[in-house]
Amino acid sequence: MAIGGIIVVLLLCLLSVVRGEDPYLFFTWNVSYGTLSPLGIPQQVILINGKFPGPNINSTSNNNVVVNIFNNLDEPLLFTWHGVQQRKNSWQDGVPGTNCPISPGTNYTYRFQVKDQIGSFFYYPSTGMHRAAGGFGGLRINSRLLIPVPYHDPEDEYTVVMCDWYTKSHTTLKKFLDSGRSIGRPEGVLINGKNAKGDGKDEPLFTMKPGKTYKYRVCNVGIKNSLNFRIQGHSMTLVEMEGSHVVQNAYDSLDLHVGGCVSVLVTADKEPKDYYIVASTRFTKSVLTGKGIIRYTNGNAGPSSDIPEAPTGWAWSLNQFRSFRWNLTASAARPNPQGSYKYGKIDITRTIRIVNSVKREQGKIRYALNGVSHVDTETPLKLAEYYGVADKVFQYNSIQDDPPASVVNNIEIKANVLNITHRKFVEIIFENPEKSIQSYHLNGYAFFAVAIEPGTWAPDKRINYNALDAVSRHTIQVFPKCWAAVMLSFDNVGMWNLRSMIAENQYLGQQLYISVITPERSLRDEYTMRDEQLLCGIVKDLPRPPPYV
Ligand SMILES: *[C@@H]1O[C@H](CO)[C@@H](O)[C@H](O)[C@H]1NC(C)=O
Ligand SMILES: *[C@@H]1O[C@H](CO)[C@@H](O)[C@H](O)[C@H]1NC(C)=O
Ligand SMILES: *[C@@H]1O[C@H](CO)[C@@H](O)[C@H](O)[C@H]1NC(C)=O
Ligand SMILES: *[C@@H]1O[C@H](CO)[C@@H](O)[C@H](O)[C@H]1NC(C)=O
Ligand SMILES: *[C@@H]1O[C@H](CO)[C@@H](O)[C@H](O)[C@H]1NC(C)=O
Repeated sequence: MAIGGIIVVLLLCLLSVVRGEDPYLFFTWNVSYGTLSPLGIPQQVILINGKFPGPNINSTSNNNVVVNIFNNLDEPLLFTWHGVQQRKNSWQDGVPGTNCPISPGTNYTYRFQVKDQIGSFFYYPSTGMHRAAGGFGGLRINSRLLIPVPYHDPEDEYTVVMCDWYTKSHTTLKKFLDSGRSIGRPEGVLINGKNAKGDGKDEPLFTMKPGKTYKYRVCNVGIKNSLNFRIQGHSMTLVEMEGSHVVQNAYDSLDLHVGGCVSVLVTADKEPKDYYIVASTRFTKSVLTGKGIIRYTNGNAGPSSDIPEAPTGWAWSLNQFRSFRWNLTASAARPNPQGSYKYGKIDITRTIRIVNSVKREQGKIRYALNGVSHVDTETPLKLAEYYGVADKVFQYNSIQDDPPASVVNNIEIKANVLNITHRKFVEIIFENPEKSIQSYHLNGYAFFAVAIEPGTWAPDKRINYNALDAVSRHTIQVFPKCWAAVMLSFDNVGMWNLRSMIAENQYLGQQLYISVITPERSLRDEYTMRDEQLLCGIVKDLPRPPPYV
C-alpha cells in the first residue's frame, strides 16, 4: 500500500489547502475522579486532565474542534458544548437524546465546527448529575481577525466559571433525586473551582497591569442558583452576551442565571492592590458568597474585607434584563443572517406556550413541561429517527402548543418530543407559575429574548416585546410568576434539547426535544451520521441507513 497510500494522503492534504479548509484544534481529555476540598471538606470531583475546572477551549470562528475524550469514570458520560450551535450537526451535541454515552473505560471523539459564532460559552458533562462534581470549563470563540470587534483589543482575557456548590458527591445528589428527595441548598459558591479564604494566603486568580483593560468572560455553570457577579471597586462594561455584541453599558454588578454567560471589560484604574471578585446567590433566604482575588501587578496590599453588597429582589434583576440591548451596528459572525435582522417584522407562524409544573406524589418528585415529564430513552431519539424506527421509541408531538391548566398539572412521564417544521419562525412563551426561578436553554440555536414580564401571557402582551434590538442569546430566565418570550427561526435541522438549566428540574423531567427534520435526507440540510457514531439501544444491530447525499 505504502506509496499509493502516501500519495492519497498528500492529495488529501493538498485538497484541503486548496479548499482553504478551516483550521483544526485537537484536544485529548482524560476524564477521571479526584479528591479536592473546594469548601474545606474533601470530596469527589470530576477532573479533566487532572484539572478542576477543566481546561479552556480557545477557538476562533469556524475552527474545527476535535476532542478525544477518555472516560475514566465508572459511569457513562457525555459532554455538551453549551451555546455552540452545531449547525446541521446535532450528532455532536452530547445530550442523551442525540448521543449514546461514552462507556466507562472507552474513548470517543467529538468533532464539530464553531461555525459563524463568536462569544463566551462553556462545556459540561450532561449525564446524570455529573455537572455537580465539575467537568466544566470555558469555551471561547474569538472573532476572526478580518471582522472588526466593537471595542479595543484587551490586554488579556480571563475566563470565570462560577457556580453554586454542594459538598455531597454527584452520586449522592442523584440518589436523593431518585428517591424523591430534593438536593436542598448548596453549601457554597465557587469561582474557578475555589473560594478565597481571606486569610492573606490566597493566590490571585488573575493579575492586571495598571491602566490596562481586560476582558472577563463569565459564565454561571452552577446547578441551581442565580449568581450576582461583581468586582470590588470596579465597574464592568458589558460587551457580549451569549454570542452577541451588545450595547456597551457599565454595570456595578450583573445577575447571571444558571447557564448564562457574558463578557465584560474591566480597566485597572484604581489604587494598586488586590481586589475581590465576588459571586453571591440571588433570591435565596441566606446568601452564599464566593470570592476570588485579582491583583494589580504593581500592588502591595491585600483586598479590603468590605465586600460590595449585592442587589436584592426580583425587580432589580428584571430591570437589568431590560437594559440589555443588541448592538445593531456591530458586525459579527452570525449563523443565520436572514433570521437576524428585523426579526420583529417576521410573521409568527407558530406560538408555543411552555408551562412548567411539578408533581410531588408517593414520595416522588417529577418536573414537567406542558404536563409531560421527560425520560430519556435507551435509544437516543435522534438515532431512532435516523434509522426510521422512531415509532418504536417515542411519539412526536407529545405536548400541546397551548395547554390548559388541567393538562399542565396532570403530569405524564414519557419521552417529550415536539416537532417543528424546518425554517418556521416561531414564538415560544415560557410561563413560570412556580415560586422559584427558571432558566431555560435551547441547544442548536440562539433566540431573540424579546420580553420577560410578570403575570400570565396573552397575545395582546406582544406590544411589550422589544421588536428592535433584543439580544440574540441561548438561555433565558423566567422569574417566579412571570413569563418570558423568545422568537427564532427553526433553520437548523436536527434533534435539539430544550431544558431547564436547574439541574434538579432537568434531571426529573423538565426538558424536551425539538425535532426539526427535512424529508430529503440531504447533506444540504444536515450532516450524515459518521461511521464512528456510538450506537446503543435498538439501533445497535440494525443495518445502517444509506448516508445522506
Ligand atoms: C487518566 O487519569 C487517571 C487519574 O488521574 C490516571 O490514573 C490515568 O492513568 C490517566 N490515563 C491516561 C491515559 O492518562
Ligand atoms: C486564544 O486564541 C487567540 C487566537 O488564536 C490567541 O490570539 C490567544 O493568544 C489565545 N489565548 C490563549 C489564552 O491561549
Ligand atoms: C480513541 O483514541 C485513539 C487514540 O488514542 C484514537 O485513535 C481513536 O480514534 C479514539 N476512538 C474514538 C472512537 O474516538
Ligand atoms: C456598537 O458597535 C459599533 C460598531 O462596531 C461601535 O462603534 C459602537 O460603539 C457600539 N455601540 C454601542 C452603543 O456599544
Ligand atoms: C411531526 O412529525 C410527524 C412525523 O413525521 C408528522 O406526521 C407530523 O405532521 C409532524 N407535525 C408537525 C406539527 O410538524
